Amino acid sequence: MRDLLRPLIVAPMAGGPTTSSLVLAAAEAGALGFLAAGYRTPEAVEDDLRSLRGVPHGLNIFVPMAAPADASPLERYRRLLQAEADRYGVDLPPLRLDDDDHFAAKVELAIAYATPLVSFTFGVPGLAVTRALRDAGCSVLVTVTSADEARRALAAEPNALIAQAGAAGGHASTTSPFGYRGTSAAAEVLAAVRAVTDIPVIAAGGVASAADVRALLDVGAAAVQCGTCFLLADEAGTRPAQRAAMLSGDFRETVVTRAFTGQPARGLRNRFTDAYSAAAPIGYPAVHHLTAPIRAAAAQRGDPGALNLWAGTGFAAARPAPVADLIGALRD
Ligand SMILES: Cc1cc2nc3c(=O)[nH]c(=O)nc-3n(C[C@H](O)[C@H](O)[C@H](O)COP(=O)(O)O)c2cc1C
Repeated sequence: MRDLLRPLIVAPMAGGPTTSSLVLAAAEAGALGFLAAGYRTPEAVEDDLRSLRGVPHGLNIFVPMAAPADASPLERYRRLLQAEADRYGVDLPPLRLDDDDHFAAKVELAIAYATPLVSFTFGVPGLAVTRALRDAGCSVLVTVTSADEARRALAAEPNALIAQAGAAGGHASTTSPFGYRGTSAAAEVLAAVRAVTDIPVIAAGGVASAADVRALLDVGAAAVQCGTCFLLADEAGTRPAQRAAMLSGDFRETVVTRAFTGQPARGLRNRFTDAYSAAAPIGYPAVHHLTAPIRAAAAQRGDPGALNLWAGTGFAAARPAPVADLIGALRD
């Protein structure tokens, strides 16, 4: 496993930022990129896997979450969001609770393409899945946010864990969204996870400089996974509205919110997070589907007020450049 890792990992970033060009350029620059299978069709994922044959890379897959036993908080949130639907002139879809994001098909693709590294977020895959991947020559990584989650993940016999801090941009992989506050730093979560296992642990969250990377490697990280600092990379598919928001200087802080998707996620604080974070229920992916038309309409208008502008605490250090330059700067 350790021989597959490189010190710097370009995180999987579903929803647009990750492209096969980003992953390829990361590999060429001596880092390791992960494709993000989340939200995509198996066909689109397969196109990318095909184009990266022979290139060191990983694939990230969302583990399906159980549907909530009681849908009434989701129905209440749907009623609350009607004001936003009216504002953007869109219809709110009926609640959709049963989306597994093509989990089985994506695992099958990783097996068929013997993808060197396969990481999971949002939960722990079953042992049959991880064993099938390992039999196909894939190394398996599971993302965790605490020592407890690490202990549970070890049951799947992963080759490595990703210790994701609360500082991280995008969704938290936590399986305990009720108590999740997202206040932890990368070094803290790394130490907590390393205390329960001897397998390699990758640190993630809030990393914005070469000094941050070095500090985490020095305290035992097997590699450091960065997302936010690559959001403005030339090869990233980050939406124009998010690029503009990040470069505008208008957004001063990030918050952890369930308002957009029902799962805690860190993003730039905006009108929508201010208005709905307090009321938003737990319930991924139902809330993700519910807010999708609002977010799409906001993106089309170039209105960052109702966009999920995922970013970690280090967002101010992100800058536009070829990914090779950004990787170089994190190594200096
Ligand atoms: C826009 C965005 C999308 C993300 N999408 C995913 C994803 O699809 N799968 C995943 O495991 N992690 C995802 N993450 C989280 C990263 O894997 C990683 O934990 C995080 O970027 C590290 O913190 P940083 O953003 O402060 O560098 C995403 C992060 C961002 C910023």
